[in-house]
Amino acid sequence: MDTILILDFGSQTTQLIGRRIRDLGVYSEIVPGDTPLDGLIREEIRGLILSGSPYSVYEPDSPRPDPRLLSLEIPILGICYGVQRLIHDQGGEVAALPKREFGRVSVRIEESSLLLEGIPDGFVSWMSHGDTVRKTAPGYRIAARTTNDLPAVIVHEEKPIYGLQFHPEVTHSEHGEQLLENFAVRICGARKQWNVEAYLRSISETLRQKVGDRRVLLLSSGGVDSTVVAALLLASLSDDQAHLMYIDSGLMRKKETEEVGELLGRLGAKHLHIIDASDRFLESLSGISDPEEKRRRIGDMFIRVQEQEINRLGVASSFLAQGTLYTDMIESGKGVGKKADVIKSHHNVRSPLVEAKREQGLLLEPLAALYKDEVRRLGEKLGLPHDTVWRHPFPGPGLAVRILGEVNREKIRILQDADSIYIEELKKRGLYDEIWQAFSVLLPLRSVGVAGDIRRYGYVLALRAVVSRDGMTADVYPFPTLDLLEISSRITNEVGEIGRVVYDVSSKPPATIEWE
Ligand code: XMP
Repeated sequence: MDTILILDFGSQTTQLIGRRIRDLGVYSEIVPGDTPLDGLIREEIRGLILSGSPYSVYEPDSPRPDPRLLSLEIPILGICYGVQRLIHDQGGEVAALPKREFGRVSVRIEESSLLLEGIPDGFVSWMSHGDTVRKTAPGYRIAARTTNDLPAVIVHEEKPIYGLQFHPEVTHSEHGEQLLENFAVRICGARKQWNVEAYLRSISETLRQKVGDRRVLLLSSGGVDSTVVAALLLASLSDDQAHLMYIDSGLMRKKETEEVGELLGRLGAKHLHIIDASDRFLESLSGISDPEEKRRRIGDMFIRVQEQEINRLGVASSFLAQGTLYTDMIESGKGVGKKADVIKSHHNVRSPLVEAKREQGLLLEPLAALYKDEVRRLGEKLGLPHDTVWRHPFPGPGLAVRILGEVNREKIRILQDADSIYIEELKKRGLYDEIWQAFSVLLPLRSVGVAGDIRRYGYVLALRAVVSRDGMTADVYPFPTLDLLEISSRITNEVGEIGRVVYDVSSKPPATIEWE
């Protein structure tokens, strides 16, 4: 399949480049920026994109691509650090700016180019750079500048090599999609061969061949990714091959365990193991209020329960499937090891069971090439219900990180009751699908209220709702005030322990989406 290969130098937006290219229908792959070209360049590679980076090209340990890159006949697009790298390495000059160029900046086009076809003069780009190209390398020309008179688009006079100082992959950049399409389709000639139907056919076939007549165990969390894997396994293999295990940690949302069991049953799961481990989880959390310690204990308990149950069920020698996504591979430093700033290590990619299966060649990660929206489309193709496919993300440690401080059964019940009202109301009001993630947080403090003539101390509940593309950054959902007031009053009326409701108005950054 025609492919655009992205060399990652550690920018936070590299995966967005990959997504945008896939959104065009062109297949893209991300690899560490300094990967040697041998074995990387194959016939399907139609173009290369060099990503941005937190480094400066003149730093001695800054990552650099294989220098043989420039002698290939394949078109190249450098973005931000990517173009600075190209210019610096070919004899141009890159230097620090006295002040970063950041945010929306207009671009004046000075010279036409295939890359800029269909893009109007004065378009708004999104910039984030502290270095600039001071002098281009021989053979390069500046095709567009920002209104600050800094180079914005650089082109080679003869070869199909292009550079953008701004980030076309970021939605704030106007015409970013058009620019990427100009590069991938017009300049590289990549055909739009990537779609979820074709992927479904090929991954089903790959699974059947790889698994043969052996068994596959899936640890299902009830989330979108593992449910799509469950549907995929059940659609591709025979009933007796797929074993689904779901561990109820007691930290799930209200009625979640029952709903997950019902859905997996409806999908045709014959071997469905629902393990109630809530006592064990809650015991291990008793007296613990430090968030990282809670996460660690929950992670350890998942591993312990998994091991015990796998042995008990006699599925220890089977394949293990998990719903790792492309972004998980990148964030966990597995696929693209050079990521400068690993954001979280919460994904299950590092569990010993998974590592052992990986070593034995028994790990199946059928979604590892997909982005979240592609997984959702795959889920729809596999016939999963809308509510499952579009369910908001839910963290592995569950409600434990939404009950600030110590966790106990009573607090879990209070939060479950309040949160189910919140989510039910969002759905009823048609707001749920507009929001990327909504949830409630139970604060470890009580505030005063009145009930009749009596002063009464109740818990404070924070409501959160954010819009985001991928969870890396998030904006506060601009909640219609009346809806917020009505939802708040339903919660305080129906959940007696809650005395006060507040709405979190913090974006990410600087806040995170979760509170712990
Ligand atoms: P933050 O809070 O880092 O969240 O802005 C970004 C996304 O990640 C989810 N999240 C987690 N998921 N284990 C998980 O599986 C965790 O420990 C965890 N912490 C945050 C969060 O819900 C949001 O979607």
